[in-house]
Amino acid sequence: MAYLLGIDVSTTATKALVIDERGAVAATASDEYEFFTPRPLWAEQNPHDWWRACINVVRRVLEQVPASEIAGIGLTGQMHGLVLLDADGDVLRPCIMWNDQRTAKQCAEITERAGGASSLLQLIGNPVLPGFTAPKILWVRENEPEVYARAAHVLLPKDYLRYKLTSAYATEMSDASGTALLDVAQRAWSDDLLKAINLPRAWLPAVHESPVVSAKISAQAALETGLLQGTPVVGGGGDQAAQAVGTGIIRQGIVSATLGTSGVVFASSDSYRLEPNGLLHAFCHAVPGKWHLMGVMLSAAGSFRWFRDAFGAVERERARLENRDVYDILTAQAARVAAGSEGLIFLPYLSGERTPYPDPHARGTFFGITLRHGKEHFVRAVLEGVAYGLCDSLELMRALGLDISQVRASGGGARSPLWRQILADVFDSAIALVNITEGAAFGAALLAGVGAGVYANVEAACAATIVVTDAVKPGPAVSVYGDYYQVYRKLYPALKDSFRQVGEVAARHGF
Ligand code: XUL
Repeated sequence: MAYLLGIDVSTTATKALVIDERGAVAATASDEYEFFTPRPLWAEQNPHDWWRACINVVRRVLEQVPASEIAGIGLTGQMHGLVLLDADGDVLRPCIMWNDQRTAKQCAEITERAGGASSLLQLIGNPVLPGFTAPKILWVRENEPEVYARAAHVLLPKDYLRYKLTSAYATEMSDASGTALLDVAQRAWSDDLLKAINLPRAWLPAVHESPVVSAKISAQAALETGLLQGTPVVGGGGDQAAQAVGTGIIRQGIVSATLGTSGVVFASSDSYRLEPNGLLHAFCHAVPGKWHLMGVMLSAAGSFRWFRDAFGAVERERARLENRDVYDILTAQAARVAAGSEGLIFLPYLSGERTPYPDPHARGTFFGITLRHGKEHFVRAVLEGVAYGLCDSLELMRALGLDISQVRASGGGARSPLWRQILADVFDSAIALVNITEGAAFGAALLAGVGAGVYANVEAACAATIVVTDAVKPGPAVSVYGDYYQVYRKLYPALKDSFRQVGEVAARHGF
């Protein structure tokens, strides 16, 4: 039996996952690290920390599955990060991460140099957002000219691990899509944009399809990790595309809703499609020749965690005494409240928003509070507000004519049956669960299996390993939520200016 290794360099940890060809987990290991915020809105990580964690987790899984049994390796990870290397392959500065917001000025500059928002959309299929890679390169050029002068290679986080594992400078289509430098429709670097913003093409890595073998484990990496020299490393995928492969979101009509810290709605598309205003990310899929559309909300299960931490002290203590999960206690309270929380609506913009409102100034809001509302209403309103936020992305997809036959829920929040039912009712769509909960690393391992010849293609890999285990149908609350959703949609436009204003006032007073 062949074994496959997925490595995920996520925001919080590097994880290694070994599966067999039927998808059964043979070994896992995870090693955490921090990110740094040297200034407000900045987020940086040290690529050496990822590599150290990678060596650690690979060594640990190899204690359970011998290196000689690993048929292939797939890489995945946090997208959009800028790793800058010099001509010798040495790291020049910390990685500027996906959640870093320092580059508003450079985004405007790129848009202008590309000839305006609509011609940028033609070139790369997306607007350029502060988290994306290209504006970060320009930021370094403007703010750290001595670093820029030594730059010779630009890599994404998982591709830095590939470089350390194989010595190859390479990436793949799905992650490259999030750099704002790829012509997503043509699946190739955009020479036109590179020229417009004056970046050397030679800095960019070779770009492969995700299941293609990009390089092999080097002698040096074999020494450091215990892997066998020559083991194939496939392209892999950005975390969202790999997660989609790992939950079977590879056919048009099946969409995923992920309730992680952030929330993602992800639809596979057989052809290249564009939301006319660029509100959905239009990226290449990790399935060769396919694309995907994606809406990203920044605080999904993160909103619930915030509520737990800010207001759940009593429940946390009860959970400790009764040895229960604090989220179960909170959702049991919410389950006693009628759908719609008696008119209490939560806007989940706790860290600004990306889809459908690319606005770093947006803020969380509870709207419609009356004397009748107790804590249980607030909990339910948080769950519902996150569902409305995800529904905004789904509605943009529906408006593009994507026929959505099934939504698969994943991520930590999807463990709650109440939250799944709320999603089904708000979306007016069945919500399914699949057997796989290992996330992006699982998808990366499947891609490795395709590259190593274990599966004929990505479709066959998913068919061999992923099954639907549960589904909830929309219930009687659909019409209630339909009505409240109309109110929800009007709140952001009404509050937009006030969000910015309150931010300015707070800044004036030192916050
Ligand atoms: C995707 C995105 C996040 C990061 C971190 O566009 O920004 O998924 O990849 O997980």
